[in-house]
Amino acid sequence: WWDRVSPAAKDPITGVTEAFLADTNPHKINLGVGAYRDDEGKPVVLQCVRNAEAKIAGCDFINVGRESNATAVGSKLVEESAKLAYGKDANVVKEGAFAGLQALSGTGACRLFAEFQRRFHPESPIYFPDPTWSNHPNIWRDAQVPVRTFQYYHPVSKGLNFAALMDDIKNAPDASFFLLHPCAHNPTGVDPTVEQWREISYQFKEKSHFPFFDVAYQGFASGDLDMDAQAIRIFLEDGHLIGCAQSFAKNMGLYGHRVGCLSVLCADAKQAVAVKSQLQQIARAMYSNPPIHGLLLVSTILSDPETKALWVKEVKVMANRIQQMRSTLRESLEKLASPLNWEHITNQVGMFCFSGLTADQVDRLVREFHIYLTRDGRMSMAGVTTSNVSYLANAIHEVTRY
Ligand code: LMR
Repeated sequence: WWDRVSPAAKDPITGVTEAFLADTNPHKINLGVGAYRDDEGKPVVLQCVRNAEAKIAGCDFINVGRESNATAVGSKLVEESAKLAYGKDANVVKEGAFAGLQALSGTGACRLFAEFQRRFHPESPIYFPDPTWSNHPNIWRDAQVPVRTFQYYHPVSKGLNFAALMDDIKNAPDASFFLLHPCAHNPTGVDPTVEQWREISYQFKEKSHFPFFDVAYQGFASGDLDMDAQAIRIFLEDGHLIGCAQSFAKNMGLYGHRVGCLSVLCADAKQAVAVKSQLQQIARAMYSNPPIHGLLLVSTILSDPETKALWVKEVKVMANRIQQMRSTLRESLEKLASPLNWEHITNQVGMFCFSGLTADQVDRLVREFHIYLTRDGRMSMAGVTTSNVSYLANAIHEVTRY
């Protein structure tokens, strides 16, 4: 039956985790996966999550009547997630003019949307920024959606290639789908300014493009959840219909729970009912319902004011720690008298630094220093700690000086 099956290529991100785990060197560092770590390099269970756990412990939702209650928990999660993305007073939320569904984290939300897109716009491709998260093309490809790219990153400035981005938006066929990272772009850490987002939104209107936001790192760019949703709010003000994939894997430290939300803005509440029913049908055939425990945690955190306030603070703490590590890494490289410019380490935002290291230099970091990252040179700054930053700076200096 399976003679024709050859091994699949390793995923560029999860493959790094595997290699890191297999390494026994005590100095090893994992800068691969974009999941938060504390200053000890350990995954963190946020206090708001612990509090939510305590609140739901022994709760009937978990023990009995799962089926009907799952729907209620899902609705709560969707409503609160929509407020987080579109704003707590947004009309679309108040009027119910959106279709929302709990999803298996950001990946699951993207996958649901990709299937939905193919069902109702089978001819339309999706445009991804170049580069984008390495899993985006896989998700839309598996949903049989044609995949294209638009220019985004400027390798020389290590910033945004705004002019080229605008050209590609203008030159794409009218009414194309575009995937946008509203904050903390993965993998580059390069975001448009507010003014640039306004211009992008304006051009989307001119071209009737559909903006689909992948919101995987809300809070990590600025430390403020609302500020990080500014791009979405600009598009909303401009009257676009929008899609959003939201993940709580990073900003609540719930990677393993796979909690997320897909929302699609609609012309009115009636259309939203139809869209939601289609999304539910797609989810039902793929996995039915997501597990309830993580959903309960997130909906408890978002809907209990005290727990939510604690979460908001904890997001800031995580974002600040990463920011601090950016400054320390840059200073350390400058102190080593590295002849290269490292300003981009602090100019870029969010969890990632797109270091500019070549694949060969990355290979040397792995081989000679046991420092693991993806071969495109993306470093997850969450893996940098007070105790490993100078080892890291030395290693980067070594592989970049010859
Ligand atoms: C990443 O880019 O590292 C994260 O989005 C985690 C993942 O699952 O790839």
